[in-house]
Amino acid sequence: MTSLLVRNIARIAGIERHGRLMLAGRDLSVMESIEDAFLYVEDGVIADFGPMSELADKGYADDAGVTVVDACGGMVLPSFCDSHTHIVYAASREHEFVDKIRGLSYAEIARRGGGILNSADRLHELTEDELYCQAMCRVREIISKGTGAVEIKSGYGLNTADELKMLRVIRRIQETAPLKVASTFLGAHAVGREYAGRQREYVDLVVNEMIPEVGREHLADYIDVFCDDGFFTPEDTARILEAGAIWGMRPKIHGQELADSGGVRVAVEHNALSVDHLESMTDDDIAMLQGTGTIPTALPGTSFFLNMPFAPGRRIIDSGLPLAVASDYNPGSTPSGDMKFVVSLACIKMRLLPEEAFNAATINSACAMGISRDYGSVSIGKVPNFYITRPIPSLDFIPYAYTTPVISRIFLKGVEWHI
Ligand code: NIG
Ligand code: FE
Repeated sequence: MTSLLVRNIARIAGIERHGRLMLAGRDLSVMESIEDAFLYVEDGVIADFGPMSELADKGYADDAGVTVVDACGGMVLPSFCDSHTHIVYAASREHEFVDKIRGLSYAEIARRGGGILNSADRLHELTEDELYCQAMCRVREIISKGTGAVEIKSGYGLNTADELKMLRVIRRIQETAPLKVASTFLGAHAVGREYAGRQREYVDLVVNEMIPEVGREHLADYIDVFCDDGFFTPEDTARILEAGAIWGMRPKIHGQELADSGGVRVAVEHNALSVDHLESMTDDDIAMLQGTGTIPTALPGTSFFLNMPFAPGRRIIDSGLPLAVASDYNPGSTPSGDMKFVVSLACIKMRLLPEEAFNAATINSACAMGISRDYGSVSIGKVPNFYITRPIPSLDFIPYAYTTPVISRIFLKGVEWHI
């Protein structure tokens, strides 16, 4: 395997020296960094980094097999880890966006072809190959914006065959895309059309048919439920999570988006890896998360797009908890997987410092998808997923210049990725 040497880096930020797999409270505001640095990759892992002044003695550049890259005074940052997306879907929903601007009701929007059920109808019409091709366009898009690991959910199938179809597409992305992929089964995203008015029977279907099929084929790492007002109750959620646990699927759940609906409690009671959304989170929820292994995850792009309150990120961190941020990329509530913009929103709308927002979008979001041993920071032995910026004045410039592209070169598993 060829080695890679990156030289003339103005600053490497996001170094993890102490093997910490997650940062909480005040620790979030520190991004360890080295100025005027090099980075060395060997045998598919980050093998060394340090000040340029020490590079000559290392002899890396003398090795005939080494690829030398000049960072030209740009910064190196660990690739974003996006721990919550729905990027396997069949069609965009811009008509719904316009309908919302015109002030149409949810029911009217659904009648005109919006909402999760309409996404399920569209997905039903496509083959696995067609879905895969569409999803890979989005994968390429997010890679070009600096994402090196992504969690992808099912949840636009809403019947057993279509949920399995989605999960097989996710598996194919896992096997073929250069970025790291984690998969989540979200059969309980909405009640499928054939079960309208029969929510309990739909939950039975999820528990008795979908979960065993998904488990037998090992199609999902995690299990999710949309636990919220008008969707699934905490009781439905508990049943589903218990059934998933039998197959080793740890929960990562949608909770407390639309209302204070018990999502955090059920997440904590079932040792969820993360509870995501949290726009309607209360102080009691913050207290409930203390001392647990459940990572609160904010999705500020959703609040931005839906014009809703933002999750209380500042209060979460100030209470000593960890915080992750992710995009929620999906056709309805967040048609964007741009993690740089998510970081800007975390700063502007949730009052996170840039370092806090970057840590939330890298090491903590890696942790919220169970991969922070290998991803989410620049550290010896980790997978070399990183990008080089063009020369920029500071780290703070990145979220500040919230529409300015800053990435000049992207490396995934130590291999340069070309758009
Ligand atoms: O995460 N909150 C639930 N589901 C998605 C929206 C899905 C859709 O509208 O298609 C979300 O925001
Ligand atoms: Fe979501």
